Amino acid sequence: MNKRVLIIGGTGYLGQHLLQQSSSDLLLSLAFTHHSSSPPQTLLLNALPFQLDLQTGRGFDQITHQFGQPDVVVNCAALSVPRACETDPALAMSLNVPSTLVKWLSSFPETNKSTLLIHLSTDQVYQGTKSFYKEDDETLPVNVYGKSKVAAEEYVSNNCSNFVILRSSIIFGPQTISPVSKSLPIQWMDGVLAKGQEAEFCHDEFRCPVYVKDVVSVIQILIDRWISDGKKSQLVLNVGGPDRVSRAQMAETVARVRGYNTSLIKQVSASSVDRGVKSPADISMDISRLIETLDFTPTSFEDGVKLTIETLK
Ligand SMILES: NC(=O)c1ccc[n+]([C@@H]2O[C@H](COP(=O)([O-])OP(=O)(O)OC[C@H]3O[C@@H](n4cnc5c(N)ncnc54)[C@H](OP(=O)(O)O)[C@@H]3O)[C@@H](O)[C@H]2O)c1
Repeated sequence: MNKRVLIIGGTGYLGQHLLQQSSSDLLLSLAFTHHSSSPPQTLLLNALPFQLDLQTGRGFDQITHQFGQPDVVVNCAALSVPRACETDPALAMSLNVPSTLVKWLSSFPETNKSTLLIHLSTDQVYQGTKSFYKEDDETLPVNVYGKSKVAAEEYVSNNCSNFVILRSSIIFGPQTISPVSKSLPIQWMDGVLAKGQEAEFCHDEFRCPVYVKDVVSVIQILIDRWISDGKKSQLVLNVGGPDRVSRAQMAETVARVRGYNTSLIKQVSASSVDRGVKSPADISMDISRLIETLDFTPTSFEDGVKLTIETLK
């Protein structure tokens, strides 16, 4: 029988990429949830859609009846924009801590084989005062988004017996089949630089941006492992790209790949920019656990940018 994979938040940026890549795997039965958006028609070909409100848990009964207990749940749903979390901390907490999801999973009989929960977290769980954080370093978030994600990690670790938490850095790559409304980092930089005017980028905030198809591959490896060996996990993984870069360095790479004039990039300090939310300075991550555990080779930032830019031509 086909293994059942449920993607919570299948209409979001990562959710759509994951659905698109996984729908060609004929050994999987796929389902996904949507909340405010209608399910994109192109994603309906090989996957069952369900409307779900993760805050209240409304919608889980329907999934139980029509799809049954999943073998794997990938939780991509979140209030994922830090400024939106800062504006509405109560919403951020109730949506980002997946208590309704975990309770639903524990409603299935204990005699059944357990469900693997792959939960998306963030590099913003770290304080940002050093380089190359490791998974065992202290988490000390500086904003509501990071705090809600730390609370989520604690909830999952304390209430699930089979989980993998993925602490993702900025995810970049091509737009989705049904375009998401939030701005995407490379496309945004490209748009700013294409104007041919001087533009400001921070030189003192560091991240390890990760190519979206690498995040999808990581999730697919985890799904395949659980299906083939059935060994339960309690694992936390940093999911970043191999390069530690500032926003100014990111913009320089976009400019080089596009052939724009790099002298238009004006380097400024993050302290001079008010984004309405505190932003950690250096949350670059050590990804050796990811590489060793999954035998995985991440895409360089420059190659990821080239692949993204190709889709704009
Ligand atoms: N993108 C990044 O750069 C990045 C970086 C680090 C970590 N992450 C984490 O990775 C995960 C995926 O990110 P993403 O960028 O794909 O997020 P996204 O594009 O903002 O998608 C969010 C998803 O959550 C769903 N959702 C919103 N409110 C909901 C509710 N009340 N009930 C059920 N579903 C609800 C949305 O459904 P509708 O659209 O149908 O409302 C959408 O499918 C998140 O946990 C995020 O924090 C992302």
